[in-house]
Amino acid sequence: MCKNNENRLIKKRLRTVQRQAIERGLDGVLLKQYDFICNYNDEVETKRTNKKLIAGILSAFIILVLSVSFVNSILSARCLLPSNYLVWEATRPLADCSYCENVTKPIILWNVTRQEFASYAFTPRPIIVKNAIKHWRATKEFSFNMFKRLYEQTAGSYESLEEGCQFLNFKTDLFSLREVFSMPEARVRNEEGEKPWYVGWGNCHPDILAKVRQYYNIPEFLPEDAEFPATENIFFGFEIGAVMHLDYIPRLMWQGQVQGNKTWLVAPVPECDHVCHKFQYYVEPGDVVLLDTRIWYHATSIPKGQFSLTVQSEYG
Ligand SMILES: [Fe+2]
Repeated sequence: MCKNNENRLIKKRLRTVQRQAIERGLDGVLLKQYDFICNYNDEVETKRTNKKLIAGILSAFIILVLSVSFVNSILSARCLLPSNYLVWEATRPLADCSYCENVTKPIILWNVTRQEFASYAFTPRPIIVKNAIKHWRATKEFSFNMFKRLYEQTAGSYESLEEGCQFLNFKTDLFSLREVFSMPEARVRNEEGEKPWYVGWGNCHPDILAKVRQYYNIPEFLPEDAEFPATENIFFGFEIGAVMHLDYIPRLMWQGQVQGNKTWLVAPVPECDHVCHKFQYYVEPGDVVLLDTRIWYHATSIPKGQFSLTVQSEYG
């Protein structure tokens, strides 16, 4: 059926012609051609309508994507990991490649004092301080069940994460700390046939923060006048670690390897690929890793079957 007024008028005229044709004895083939003219108009109109509909949906989709990206870029401004890597990667300033030229391994320090560390404190080279946290109570007493008890027994513990601290699930299918602490025992222990898991979060709740800080200290060798954030993050789990990324944080990162071993793969930013190299290194329980994770892409993995637990924060 023709839809608009013009088409209705044409159709009316065609019907008149048809009627007159029938009266004058014209054959069915010719009559079908009249129908085709009318239906052709319908088809064109339908195609036009479909095109308009598709264009409308596409426009709405593009506007939605752009709006989400814009909101994300604002919301992720102080997050440990940006919620939209593409926005961060597209908006970060280009690096001066001198930070990674001729760097093929981390600086390794042993028994370093604050005074000795001062000359390394702000170097862009990755550093491992060996055996720096072996004395932490956390190396013996932190465990999945200890954190589970702490979160289950503290009122408002999970809500504190929703209100200020970030939960990171990396590639794990667990989307909140509550889900992590509700895992079946077999999965918690990464028993055969269970999916490995690896997550991280910040301890924002004041009671929980006060409690966990009894088990570790900010490494003593870090500069006394450095600025430190209000909390530390815990990362624990099996095998999968973090995918390659940059951190969108305001300071340098330190990470204490409390339990288990971890492999770090670091890579320069893409614009320095022609003069710098990616490389990997291995850390053991008791080590502290220091890295400017804003300019070094980094990914981590944990040897199969091992449970890794780290305390991580920033200084600057
Ligand atoms: Fe990171």
